[in-house]
Amino acid sequence: MTEAQKPFSVLVTRAIPEAGLKLLQAECRVTMNPEDRPLTRPELLSLAAEADGVIGLLTEKIDAAFFDSAKRVRAYANYAVGIDNISLAEATKRGVGVSNTPGVLTDATAEMAWALLFAVCRRVVESDAAMRSGRWAGWAPLHFIGSGVSGKTLGIVGAGRIGTAMALKGRGFGMKVLYHNRGRNEVLERELSARKVGFDELLAESDFISIHTPLTAETRHLFDAKALSAMKKTAYLINTARGPVIDENALVKALQEGWIAGAGLDVYENEPRMADGLAGLSNAALAAHTGSATAGARSGMATLAAENLLAMLHGRPGPTCLNPEVFAKRTEN
Ligand code: GLV
Ligand code: GLV
Repeated sequence: MTEAQKPFSVLVTRAIPEAGLKLLQAECRVTMNPEDRPLTRPELLSLAAEADGVIGLLTEKIDAAFFDSAKRVRAYANYAVGIDNISLAEATKRGVGVSNTPGVLTDATAEMAWALLFAVCRRVVESDAAMRSGRWAGWAPLHFIGSGVSGKTLGIVGAGRIGTAMALKGRGFGMKVLYHNRGRNEVLERELSARKVGFDELLAESDFISIHTPLTAETRHLFDAKALSAMKKTAYLINTARGPVIDENALVKALQEGWIAGAGLDVYENEPRMADGLAGLSNAALAAHTGSATAGARSGMATLAAENLLAMLHGRPGPTCLNPEVFAKRTEN
C-alpha cells in the first residue's frame, strides 16, 4: 500500500516502541510527535483534528474539549491501563471507541511495587547516597537498620490484576495478606489464605500497604491525614497506582513526623512535580512513574494499543475496548 492508499490517518502523541508503530504503519498514515517532550495542549488538539484515530498518553486529558476539536476521531487507544485521564462517557456519547492496555504491564508494575517496598524498608536509596558521597565510614552494628519483610502483614488496596500479582509474587516471603477491594478475590484467598477486610482494619493491621486501585472519585485522597495516622508507626506505604490516591501534603507530614516509617512512590499527585518537602525526606524512595517501564511491557503496550486502534478503526471493538457498545450501535444502524 502506498501512503496515499492507506485508509486511516493516525496520531501517536509521543514516540512508542517500534512493534506497535509497525502494525499501524501497515495500514495508516502515521503522524508521531517527533520531539522528546509532550505535545502542548494546542498541538494535541490541532494534530488530533486531522486524525481518524489517536494513541495517547496518561498525561493527556481526553475530555469534551478534546473531542470537540478531534471531530474526525473514531478511535482512541490509551497507552496505559489507567483511564483517569479520559472522559469515557463523552467518548461513548460521541461514538468514539476507547481502549486501554491491561494485562501486558501487570507483572512489570507488580515488580516495581516490590522494588520500591524493598528500597524503602531496607534503605537502599539512603545507603546508595552515602556510598556515592564518600560519607560511608564502614560497617557498623547500628547503621542503616530497616525493617524485614518475611512473616509480616501485607495489605493490598485494590485487588485487581496488579494487586493480585503483587501479592502472589510475595509468596516466598511468607507474609500474611489482607486485602481491601469491592469484590472478593478468590485467587488471593485460595493461594495465600488472604483475608478481605475493611479499610480501617487494613490500615491498623498492615506492616506494608501497597496501593493498586484505579483513581476514581471514591479513591481520590483515600490516603488522607486520617488514614495515614491510622497506620502503624512502623508501617510502609507503597504507591504504584495513581498519585492522587494519596494526599501528598499529608504524606509529607506523616513522613516528617513519624506517623509511618516510610513510603515508596512511583506516582505523584501533580506529576512531574512533587509536594514540597518530599524530596528532602530520607524515608521515601522515589521513582519516576516507571511501573510499566520494562522493554517487554512497553512493547506489549504498543502492540496492544495498535491492535485496539486498528480494530476500532475497522468498526470492531478490539481486544481491550472499554466501550464496545459504541460498535454494537454502529452495526445496528
Ligand atoms: C501507567 O501508569 C498505566 O496506567 O499504564
Ligand atoms: C487494572 O486496573 C489492573 O489492575 O490491571
